[in-house]
Amino acid sequence: MSDSQNELSPEHQVEAARKAFEQEFERFARFTAGDLEAAVTEERALADLRTRHLGKKSALAATKKLIGRVAPEGRAAFGQLVQSTEAALVQSLDQAEQSLKDYIQNERTARESIDVTLPGRRPRFGHRHPITLLREKLEDVFVALGYAIEDDREIETDFYNFTALNIPENHPARGWQDTFYTTDGFALRSQTSTVQIHAMQRRGVPVRMIAPGRVFRRDTPDPTHNPMFFQVEGLCVDRGITMAHLKGTVAEFLRRMFGPDTVTRFRPSYFPFTEPSAEFDFSCFKCKGSGCRICKNSGWIELGGSGMVHPNVLRTVGVDPQEYSGFAFGLGIDRMCALMYELDDIRLLFENDVRFLGQFE
Ligand code: DAH
Repeated sequence: MSDSQNELSPEHQVEAARKAFEQEFERFARFTAGDLEAAVTEERALADLRTRHLGKKSALAATKKLIGRVAPEGRAAFGQLVQSTEAALVQSLDQAEQSLKDYIQNERTARESIDVTLPGRRPRFGHRHPITLLREKLEDVFVALGYAIEDDREIETDFYNFTALNIPENHPARGWQDTFYTTDGFALRSQTSTVQIHAMQRRGVPVRMIAPGRVFRRDTPDPTHNPMFFQVEGLCVDRGITMAHLKGTVAEFLRRMFGPDTVTRFRPSYFPFTEPSAEFDFSCFKCKGSGCRICKNSGWIELGGSGMVHPNVLRTVGVDPQEYSGFAFGLGIDRMCALMYELDDIRLLFENDVRFLGQFE
């Protein structure tokens, strides 16, 4: 091939190089970009074309070495021919490249642009868990009555969970509160009553506090039991505190929770850490005492335990029972929650099904 080309005159060789370029370039001159990917491919092909026709190894570059074969009087004209041919090629390539670049740029901008007139996507707000909602309501009531809120540990020693609460070793009360023990003598607390001890040790007396929190018991889950549940503990210790203060406080709490007509009653009971002890019930918030499904037709709903703090408990934390007295109470938050929302199964509260939880905002 090169032999036959060599036979062409230098001027013809320049002409041949130009023609060869134009043949290949034709499709770029006609290219009206239709899509971005095609344009990007064309841009690369164009760069390749530039190298092949203007690069050091191109046919046009080779013609520059032929100047010696041109007659001296024609050399200036030949030089100009090579230069102008080269300039024409460069111009064609530059133009085609620029229009491809413009097209690609516009296309990319169009793809990335945001349609500000489209309706936005509304962010989904979370909401509080029904137990949290109830706990907060209950905290509001007690804060208004002058109580502090204590948040204490869920892992306890035997001392806080039992001994300090007047439940000695081998006491049968330890049996029904059998909880989850670790190998190093710790246990998950089985009642929030533990916080009575921590609070008095930390704050001294007089003290007025409630302590909402998780408790744990070895239980097989069923519609009314779960091995983890929530309680709120209350404690008030001062000079001259009597059972009348206990009754007044619990009654006021329940009126604020369930309405001004709510009636409270106390039944004698037994707890190791209180003496005397009582359980308290309130008139059914649904039927107002006439009997319905929620109160199992009794008109009353059992809610919690209470009593006057046992002198042994006070002595354990260094408080003189001759000088101070107090009352305490405890109730189950989830039980209360299940009652208020008429849940058939307490476990619904812990399954974290958003279709269920989303109903309590
Ligand atoms: N801790 C008891 C329980 O888990 C509830 C309780 C009863 C708490 C009487 C008290 C109380 O503070 O005085 O069943």
